[in-house]
Amino acid sequence: MRRHIFYTLMAAVSLSGMNALAAEIRNLPTPDLEQKSPALMDLINTRKSERIYNKNKKIDDKTLSEILWVANGVNKYGRRTIATARNEQNLKVFVLEENGVWYYNAQDNRLEKVSNENAIPYTGEEQKFVFDAPVHLIYTSSDKHWGHAHAGSAYQNVYLYATAHGLATVIRGLINFDELHRALKLDKDEFVIAHQPVGYSE
Ligand SMILES: Cc1cc2nc3c(=O)[nH]c(=O)nc-3n(C[C@H](O)[C@H](O)[C@H](O)COP(=O)(O)O)c2cc1C
Repeated sequence: MRRHIFYTLMAAVSLSGMNALAAEIRNLPTPDLEQKSPALMDLINTRKSERIYNKNKKIDDKTLSEILWVANGVNKYGRRTIATARNEQNLKVFVLEENGVWYYNAQDNRLEKVSNENAIPYTGEEQKFVFDAPVHLIYTSSDKHWGHAHAGSAYQNVYLYATAHGLATVIRGLINFDELHRALKLDKDEFVIAHQPVGYSE
């Protein structure tokens, strides 16, 4: 299958609010916002947490792009797909891959590499099933009052998208917060909220 993602190496690009490596950028396919979906009431009724993932079944880049968009993308109003207090839009979503940690830049619909470290092991020290999932999202914030609420909106959107697309997911707090804080290169005032693996259960 034709891959929509390509890699670009740019010298000395300053990533928004982050200490950039020699920034590796990975453009994401445009999410399909016209797709038909099961009725909302049925999706809410069917949503559930899943803890069995098929490690041989990967998630394609278009699906990854749509997962990120429902979590925290830019909508048709130029705001976010989730409500945020005072429209602060400061929830951050990271994607962990074996090749490193990636920050989701929603405005530009792309992933920006934060580090080459494989941080996935810090998500599953106490629940090994997560290592079978192909996609690992980490939610972070610097808003002590509302950051968790914002993450809740994002992970619920991902649950509903997963339900609509036959994907499995679970929101998780059993993670190594300190190691993830370090691996994601978060500032002192930022904190890790939760981990959400996504994959196929069969
Ligand atoms: C804040 C939060 C943290 C959670 N942490 C974990 C976790 O670390 N591991 C896990 O397997 N499930 C975790 N869950 C999932 C819950 O166990 C799950 O939502 C609950 O059992 C209800 O099941 P349901 O989501 O299928 O309705 C968490 C859920 C929430 C909301």
